[in-house]
Amino acid sequence: MREPRLQQVRKVTRRDLLWIIPSAITAGFFGWLAWRTFAIHLTKARVTEPVWRDGPRVQAAVLNELNAQWKFKYFEYVYNGSPLKAVVFRLSEPVMGGLTVGDAHFLALSRICTHQGCVVNYVDNPELGAIAYNYRTDHPFMGCPCHFGAFEPLQAGKAVFGPPRYPLPRLRLEEENGVLYSTGYETPFRPLEQG
Ligand code: FES
Repeated sequence: MREPRLQQVRKVTRRDLLWIIPSAITAGFFGWLAWRTFAIHLTKARVTEPVWRDGPRVQAAVLNELNAQWKFKYFEYVYNGSPLKAVVFRLSEPVMGGLTVGDAHFLALSRICTHQGCVVNYVDNPELGAIAYNYRTDHPFMGCPCHFGAFEPLQAGKAVFGPPRYPLPRLRLEEENGVLYSTGYETPFRPLEQG
């Protein structure tokens, strides 16, 4: 009966390393790229109907100040007794958690980024926004200067690009005698509250 032949294990030579190392680096790079693409695009939290918590009644804007689509105004709301940077927009269509007055649609958002708490800004030039934030759209959006996160007002503040996962919290709006008031805020109020 013949002895089974022992399989010989070939030693890795220096010449082998010349292709093994670059191949491993390339595979690692594409793996990282795939993970990052997945994280940027597919792990964003959905925006749902807001659960409001009552807060102080604060004037956000006079309707005349928002007399055209995409006009906006920064204002300060009050959260737990401290001033909170916020923004109110006039939008082209109604969005969840916004307010419609006649044929005008409004939305108010916190300007505190849900990633690490920087103050987000209104980016009114979509072309510049595409370069700076890598987010391509045909209308203004909210952008965070710290790590270039982008938030979409037409999706009720949803995080759409960059590291933030959660939307900007919405502020409840009410209208009275031509004035928009903010009267509460969405819970959990990220990033100041977790939920
Ligand atoms: S703090 Fe806004 S993207 Fe990081």
